[in-house]
Amino acid sequence: MSYKSPAGAICELDAGRLPLEPVLVAVFGATGDLTHRKIIPALYNLTRNGLLHPASMVVGIARRPLSEEEFRTQLREACAQHSHTGLDQRVWEEFSARLFYLRGDIDDQSVYVRLAELIARPDSPRNALFYLAVAPDQFGLVARRLATAGLGTAGRDAEDVGPWRRLVVEKPFGTDAHSAHALNHLLHDCFAERDIFRIDHYLGKETVQNLIYFRFANSVFEPLWNRRYVARVEIDVLETGGIGTRGGYYDKAGAARDMLQNHLVQLLCLTAMEPPATLDPESIREEKVKVLRAIPDYALTELAARSVRGQYAGGRAADGRELPDYRAEAKVTPSSQTETYAALRLEVDNWRFAGVPFVLRTGKALDRQTSEIRVHFKRPPETLFAGYCRDKLEPNALVVRIQPEEGMWLSFNSKVPGAAGLKRGDLRFSYRERGSDYFPEAYERLLADAIAGDSTLFIRFDEAEEAWRLIDGLEAAWASEWAPPLVRYVAGASPDEPPLAFAVPAVCEA
Ligand code: BG6
Repeated sequence: MSYKSPAGAICELDAGRLPLEPVLVAVFGATGDLTHRKIIPALYNLTRNGLLHPASMVVGIARRPLSEEEFRTQLREACAQHSHTGLDQRVWEEFSARLFYLRGDIDDQSVYVRLAELIARPDSPRNALFYLAVAPDQFGLVARRLATAGLGTAGRDAEDVGPWRRLVVEKPFGTDAHSAHALNHLLHDCFAERDIFRIDHYLGKETVQNLIYFRFANSVFEPLWNRRYVARVEIDVLETGGIGTRGGYYDKAGAARDMLQNHLVQLLCLTAMEPPATLDPESIREEKVKVLRAIPDYALTELAARSVRGQYAGGRAADGRELPDYRAEAKVTPSSQTETYAALRLEVDNWRFAGVPFVLRTGKALDRQTSEIRVHFKRPPETLFAGYCRDKLEPNALVVRIQPEEGMWLSFNSKVPGAAGLKRGDLRFSYRERGSDYFPEAYERLLADAIAGDSTLFIRFDEAEEAWRLIDGLEAAWASEWAPPLVRYVAGASPDEPPLAFAVPAVCEA
């Protein structure tokens, strides 16, 4: 069974996957928000689509005193609220019959002993996936306790065909390169790298995966995808909402750590990477790491000059709701200097893209909710139309819309009928307009892949550390005497206008 489009794929790439096997999914942090909003709805929808083996089990682990029935009731409500396909009672009954609750403190080794006993029972699935939906400072603790209970895989032979054990780790993975390195070290003491699945949910989005398909399954765009034809690339992940109830976490993180380090860097890697040698996970992840390594080690003064940091003040959000001043949000320091908007211009200094600016922008409380990549091509030579029109002749641009209105469009210039003039046109492709595709939620795809042992859409240890190298530089620049001012913007502001806009210097278009 696969995520085949009902409209019929011309070619299936996961046909080589092993048949589904029963798995025991152990979710640490089972009463938390992530479990309710993402993990359980995803497992439910995998059941609905026949992608979770019927003999699988889901074991929630948390401290609260809940009976199995109470646990199931809570999750039913969560699923009804958050499943993108709604809730079908028949599917829920099938799924909830496999749901169990294991009460215990994650610091208590006896919980892990009980889990190991459960996994060892002859009627349990022999393979296990451990999902760490816990606070980031507990990732190492849980991994260690699992290993102590004999559930780890460090040092296990890659050819070992015994039952598998896999660890899924949520973001944030560390808070800087140093802590990410230490966490990698700790996890590697407990699990083999091939069994560690570090999540960046952006990689589970269909339109993000499409970047690889689109770039390398077509011959039209790839010849233009380089410094000769591309003037600049803009990557936006813009949000209209504020930080809501996440002040405690967010005020320590800020937009750079929360979004740039992971989601935007991943979009950058997929946009700038070279074609991988094969479609296997290591070939793809190797090319992504190469992109990160090709980002220069900018001096602090340079990073300060290449970046914008902003913080929202109260105002009317784009959806009409009033947003409080960031500094008045719950659990935020009243004098907070944390950025809720970050923009950074960088270069990927390799043969393909040397000199091409990549502008990354992300923020909360902005005028629109959009994630997209815009590839701006250079203008044609000035011999014909460009000679007449100069700046009015807009260069071609390819927009890859991640969300909402998932799709792509290519803008071009064409003749105005009945007059000797030029006007803009668009070639548009929208996934939703076709209406026939099933769009799995990102977590659905990621869980299915982790269960199948496919790590393509997960972050490799060195990728996490390299991404932090960039952000550590930026944070150091912002803490230095050259730091750009923290711009206060009114909620609902546009990142294209002052005070948030920043100019991309003219690019040599020789
Ligand atoms: C999370 C960030 O990783 O991604 C949030 O912590 C952000 O701050 C969210 O809102 C955005 O994800 P999506 O899928 O809604 O674009």
